[in-house]
Amino acid sequence: MKFFVDSADLEQISELNDIGLVDGVTTNPSIIAKSGRDFKEVIAEICKLVEGPVSAEVTATEAGKMVDEGRELRKIAGNVCVKLPLTMDGLKACSILSREGTPTNVTLCFSPNQALLAAKCGATFISPFIGRLDDITLDGLQLIEDIRLIYDNYGFETEILAASIRSVNHVKECALVGADVMTAPPGVIKNLANHPLTDKGLAAFLKDWEKTGQTIL
Ligand code: G3P
Repeated sequence: MKFFVDSADLEQISELNDIGLVDGVTTNPSIIAKSGRDFKEVIAEICKLVEGPVSAEVTATEAGKMVDEGRELRKIAGNVCVKLPLTMDGLKACSILSREGTPTNVTLCFSPNQALLAAKCGATFISPFIGRLDDITLDGLQLIEDIRLIYDNYGFETEILAASIRSVNHVKECALVGADVMTAPPGVIKNLANHPLTDKGLAAFLKDWEKTGQTIL
């Protein structure tokens, strides 16, 4: 399972990247706004920092302008992945950009039919939003499972990029149902390592080791 960091915080991305836990980065207009940074500048810095795909989202809503913005974003760096909303215009732009060899991430996916359309339009990634479905008492993980089955039925190469991940359980469930990628805030990724029995066990090991009076170095 690939781990993407859902953030534009260079420090947080770098910290996880140094551990080898960053296969890519996703951003969206809200994340960019929250960063307070210039969009193209922060995307350029992220692209220098990580080798994997960095999703930068268009803000136009008409297909022609989406394509123009996508081409502009691709000038920033070779690992820019153009993020497009799952609308008919976004799908049209996805088809055009994908045919040009541009990596695309179709986002704001909330149904299996939407994911089917994105795959048929050559999307590199599809981003189903788990958390936002859960927020309205629907089953976000069921969407991932349904898309996995549909894509496998027909051999679609579009990668399922599980997004709107809010908890470590979301990550586990996505891995169990076979999402290709998950994108999560840095805090969720860091929290994956935490377990009280690990902390308790390590404290006991170190307490017993201290009694030996030995050192390794
Ligand atoms: O990548 C999409 C993600 O940023 C949305 O997350 O928590 O705003 O639904 P959230």
